[in-house]
Amino acid sequence: MDALQLAGLIRDWAPGRRPKTAIVLGSGLGSLADEVTGAARLSYLDLPGFPRSGVSGHAGELVIGDLAGHEVAVLSGRAHYYERGNPREMAVPIATLAALGVERLILTNAAGSLRPEVGPGTAMLITDHIAWSGTNPLIGVEGDSRFVSMVDAYDPGLIGVARRAAKTIGVDLAEGVYMWFSGPSFETPAEIRMARALGADAVGMSTVPEVILARHAGLTVVAISMITNLGAGMTGAALSHDETKREAAKGAERFRALVMALVAALPPEGKEPR
Ligand code: HPA
Repeated sequence: MDALQLAGLIRDWAPGRRPKTAIVLGSGLGSLADEVTGAARLSYLDLPGFPRSGVSGHAGELVIGDLAGHEVAVLSGRAHYYERGNPREMAVPIATLAALGVERLILTNAAGSLRPEVGPGTAMLITDHIAWSGTNPLIGVEGDSRFVSMVDAYDPGLIGVARRAAKTIGVDLAEGVYMWFSGPSFETPAEIRMARALGADAVGMSTVPEVILARHAGLTVVAISMITNLGAGMTGAALSHDETKREAAKGAERFRALVMALVAALPPEGKEPR
């Protein structure tokens, strides 16, 4: 099934729905999907080409409905490069969103902070990224459209909306560069020192391939990390996925409020801020 056929299937499932905004929920942030009202829910199992995500903390469901005054498509659950070594894990979902008429994508993730003053529980707006994994989801795609510009990949207008939304609800919003490591092992302390030296502010194992795919599909992007820990070696403690999930759960309410405020502050469909 190609993206157009999948979009047709989704329209049949959620008749009359025309979401222009989509949200990808990261580790432990799935509860935002519960805030969507009038929702049609579709398991990834019923969407050929959508990932069968095996990571605990991810459900694998497409939820279409209303959130904070906007029609949204929520991808609850993502697949990662480290699951099968395929950087195109999210290619079908993102192409399907574009075929569905979605114009902007809000990405969320859990990340490790490289700045001691930006600790667990803080939200960080991603302003740029470094793709450190040595692969790219557009490898093998044909045609000149694969040469995607990554200048302003994180949309300056939507960054402005996110800053204003955070201020409105009184949530601290850090900003910085996200560096994509393949995982699934966490970084070494030496890699964390390298990442800092290279200009990164946070590290994580997702999002970057999705941003590249989304830009290729013509979507505007905004991305926010939930900081769950300081980078390896910054505290002396070992890192674990349990800690990631626990800290994400702790900060989930504030993070959920932030994403909802961001959605609420989005301009009416088709009028991107500049
Ligand atoms: N490194 C990579 N990915 C992560 C981290 C980290 O420290 N924390 C949450 N996701």
